[in-house]
Amino acid sequence: MRFQGKVAVVTGAAAGIGRCVSEMLVAEGAQVCAVDIADIPYENAAVQPYRLDVSDSEAARAFFEFMTEKYGRIDILVNNAGITRDAMTYKMADEQWDLVMNVNLKGVFNLTRQIGPFMERQGSGAIVNISSVVAEFGNIGQANYAATKSAIYGLTKTWAKEFARKGAAVRVNAVSPGYTLTDILSTVPQDLLNKFATQTMLGRLAYPEEIAKAIVFLASDDASYITGHNLSVNGGMRL
Ligand SMILES: NC(=O)c1ccc[n+]([C@@H]2O[C@H](COP(=O)([O-])OP(=O)(O)OC[C@H]3O[C@@H](n4cnc5c(N)ncnc54)[C@H](O)[C@@H]3O)[C@@H](O)[C@H]2O)c1
Repeated sequence: MRFQGKVAVVTGAAAGIGRCVSEMLVAEGAQVCAVDIADIPYENAAVQPYRLDVSDSEAARAFFEFMTEKYGRIDILVNNAGITRDAMTYKMADEQWDLVMNVNLKGVFNLTRQIGPFMERQGSGAIVNISSVVAEFGNIGQANYAATKSAIYGLTKTWAKEFARKGAAVRVNAVSPGYTLTDILSTVPQDLLNKFATQTMLGRLAYPEEIAKAIVFLASDDASYITGHNLSVNGGMRL
C-alpha cells in the first residue's frame, strides 16, 4: 500500500497505459483523479473521473481549482495523455503538426505549470512524464510525435531543477515506453509492428502493465532519490 493517503492525477486515464497506472495506484491505496477527453470506462470509489482536453489551457486551470478544492493536495502527476497523427514530413498538414503539439506538449505544460509549483509549495510530489522510444530513435512518418516526445526530456530535466530549487522534495522523471499493445498502435501496419518486435532483445512488444509498473515505481517513494531521469522501458530496442 505504497500510496495510502496520496492523491494522484493521471491524464489519458481512460485506456491503455494510463488506465493501468490508475488501477495500480488505486490498488495500492491512492485516490486517483482519472483525466481524459473520453469517458472513464471503469468505476471505483477511489477514482474521480474528470473530462478534460489537456490542450485547453483554461479548462486545465479550472481542473486545478477543482483538485485543490476537493483534495487540498496533489502528490502524483502522471502526464500520460498522448496522440499520433502520422504523415511523411513532406505531406504533413498544419493540422497534424498543431494537434500533436497541442496535446502531447502543451497539454503536459498546461497541467504541470499549475501542479508543479503547487507541489513545490506543498513541499513534496512526484511527476512522471510519458515520452517514447520514438524520442530516442526517431521514426519515419512521426516528425510531429518525435518532436513532442523529445521535448519531454528537456521539460523533465528543467522541472526537476525548477521545482526542487528551494529544497522541496519534488521529483520529476520521464518514462520512454517501447511499442506497447494499446489502441495508439491501431494505425500502425502489422508488418511494421512485427519488425519493431524483432528489433527488441526480448523479441516482442510490451504489455501496458509492463510500462505502468515502471511509471508507478517512479511515482512511489521507492524512487525517492531518482529525479531528472529518463527510464527507457523498451525490451532492449536497438535500431
Ligand atoms: N502504445 C505505445 O506503443 C506507446 C509507445 C511509446 C509511448 N507511448 C505514450 O504512452 C502514452 C499513453 O499511450 P497509450 O499507448 O496508452 O495510448 P491510448 O490511445 O490507449 O491512450 C491514450 C489516452 O489519452 C487520451 N487522450 C487523447 N487526447 C487527449 C486529450 N486531448 N486530453 C485528454 N486525454 C486525451 C485518449 O482518450 C486515451 O484514453 C502516450 O503519451 C503515448 O504517446 C505509447
